Parts: sequence; structure tokens; C-alpha cells
Amino acid sequence: MITVIDGPAGSGKSSTARAVADKLDIEYLDSGALYRTVTLLYLQAGRDKTVFFQLLDQAKISFRYCDRQFHVAVDDAAVTDRIRTPEVAEHVSEVAALPRVRTFVNHLMREAVKDGIYIAEGRDLGTAVFPDADLKFFMSADIEERARRRYNERKPDNPALSLEEVRRNIQQRDLKDANREADPLKRAEDAIEINTTNLSFEQQVDQICLYISDLIKR
Ligand code: CDP
Ligand code: CDP
Repeated sequence: MITVIDGPAGSGKSSTARAVADKLDIEYLDSGALYRTVTLLYLQAGRDKTVFFQLLDQAKISFRYCDRQFHVAVDDAAVTDRIRTPEVAEHVSEVAALPRVRTFVNHLMREAVKDGIYIAEGRDLGTAVFPDADLKFFMSADIEERARRRYNERKPDNPALSLEEVRRNIQQRDLKDANREADPLKRAEDAIEINTTNLSFEQQVDQICLYISDLIKR
């Protein structure tokens, strides 16, 4: 059984999905973290696509969710913190637009969810990756609110970006994600829309939990 949440950056997908997973004791899958991990390989390859694709073919990417964090490793070395740097955020959308990268990540995800009850979040899960998902949500929120949320989350060990810089990064990523040819950010026709601008975090978590619990009971 799988529930998917799609939506733009900062709309609340990841923190909401994690809270739902913990409340209902189900598995969580963060597709953005996988695109960020692949972007690390791209940066490691000096942004040379030939070298990058060689690294991609050889790399063993593993992941698991525990203690409220989605842990990712490349060849058994943890990269969970390294995938959140501004450099990765700047390049991830251009890497995620490559069809070969999408095929790679989609395969990882489809294999992962074969057993168990999952909640997964990303951009194209309801449209391209899991079109037959049991439940689909599309989360949105105003750009100003999303930028404020991401700005408030910044870690002290990361170079401080201004609110304006954070807003610009989010806006540029949204634009690239929504306009790319390969599986763009898009609301699935059968997705339930949740605008989180004026919702409390608890409200959106409870709303999704209710839908999933109803389905599990049936
Ligand atoms: O957490 P945030 O919303 O900032 O981004 P993320 O979920 O970590 O995703 C990072 C990037 O990965 C997005 O901006 C997209 O370019 C890409 N992505 C994608 O193309 N398809 C997905 N299903 C998930 C993420
Ligand atoms: O995954 P995505 O990029 O869509 O968003 P996120 O990483 O979950 O970040 C959203 C941030 O906004 C988190 O710090 C949430 O606690 C916060 N937030 C929210 O998600 N929903 C609200 N109604 C209010 C705040």
C-alpha cells in the first residue's frame, strides 16, 4: 500500500510525511533525498556528464528511515547531511531533469516499496512513478510562506543565506521542476489538494492520517 504526496519546495511534504509515518508506524520514502544524493555524484564528477554517468552506474545507493530522519549512503558512506548544502540545492533540479537520472531513481523507489505500507513524497510520484497509488495528495503554499519556512530551518553550520536568496532558490527550482520535459512537478488529476499556507502542521498531519487509517481499516 502506498500514499504519495507531491508539491513544490517548502510546502510541507517531508515533515508532514515523516510525522504521518511515525504516527501510523509505516515506512517513509523521500524521493528528493535520492535526487540530492545523485547530485552529489554529479558534483563529484566535476559536472562532467560522461564521468557522472559512470559514477551513477557503479554507485551503491542505500537508504532507510529511522529516528525521524531519512538516512542515505553512497557505497556505505553516510551522506545524509551533505545532501542538504546550498550547492546541492542549486544543482539538483538540473540533474533531476536528466531522463537517465529519473529512470535510475524511479527504479530504486519502485523496488523499495514492494513490501510494506509506505508514504512517499516528491514531485511526480502521483503522475509518473506510482500512478496507481492508493492515495494521492498535492501540497501547496504561498511562495513567501514556503521561503520563510525553509529560511527558519537553516542549520548553523551551513553558510547563512538571506531570506531573499532562499526565496530565489525555491522559485528557480519550482520553475525548472514544473517546466522540464521529463516528469514535471504536476498535480495528478486524482490527487487531493491541501493548501498548507494557513493550516497548522498538526491539522495537515491529522487530515492525511485520517485518510490512510480509513483505507487500512477497509
Ligand atoms: O525538500 P525540498 O522540497 O527543498 O526538495 P526535495 O524534495 O529535497 O527535492 C529536491 C529536488 O529534487 C527538487 O527540487 C526536484 O528538482 C527534484 N525532485 C524531482 O525532480 N522529483 C521528485 N520526485 C523529487 C524531487
Ligand atoms: O518537503 P517540503 O520541501 O515540501 O517541506 P518541508 O521540508 O516539510 O518543510 C516545511 C517546513 O514548514 C517544516 O519546517 C514544517 O515544520 C513547516 N510547516 C509546515 O510544513 N506546515 C505548516 N502548516 C507550517 C509549518
